[in-house]
Amino acid sequence: MKIVLVGYMGSGKTTVGKELSKYLGFRFLDLDAYIEEKTGMKIPAIFKEKGELFFRKLEHQYLSEVLEKNSDIILSTGGGTPCYSGNMEVISRLTKNVFYLRVSIPELVKRLTKEKEYRPLIAHIEEADLPEFFGKHLFERSPFYSLAAHTIPSDGTPQDIALKI
Ligand code: S3P
Repeated sequence: MKIVLVGYMGSGKTTVGKELSKYLGFRFLDLDAYIEEKTGMKIPAIFKEKGELFFRKLEHQYLSEVLEKNSDIILSTGGGTPCYSGNMEVISRLTKNVFYLRVSIPELVKRLTKEKEYRPLIAHIEEADLPEFFGKHLFERSPFYSLAAHTIPSDGTPQDIALKI
């Protein structure tokens, strides 16, 4: 069985995925960590030195690779993965167990304000402008996230969310 978690930055995909792997005994894989391992570069460095388009190509290539090569896994994707290169079709061809972790904007602001330096897409946004940025960005991305077979309200704790899944 393959389980895929999708959702915005800060929606808890990695934390929830690790929790879920304890309950189900499946291996947990994180697409960003896989890309970092394969390239020997950190995600912010890939964005800075090679650009976003280069990152999106790697993301597409390694998404297919990781899903095709492994079974009995829980895969957490990057926040943008569903929105590029027909990636949701790639995922849906290989599994129906796709979960969108949906988080409210106030909760995203709470979770991401402290960590924004590590996220290339929001590092340059002023704290006060984050709610508006998230609102617009989520409006663009939600149609892709909504292609997931299941939507899980995810403002709660990782344990609660893993149990819901
Ligand atoms: C991105 C989210 C990040 C990472 C990259 C781009 C995005 O993953 O893949 O910085 O486009 O939303 P997380 O969702 O794990 O932060």
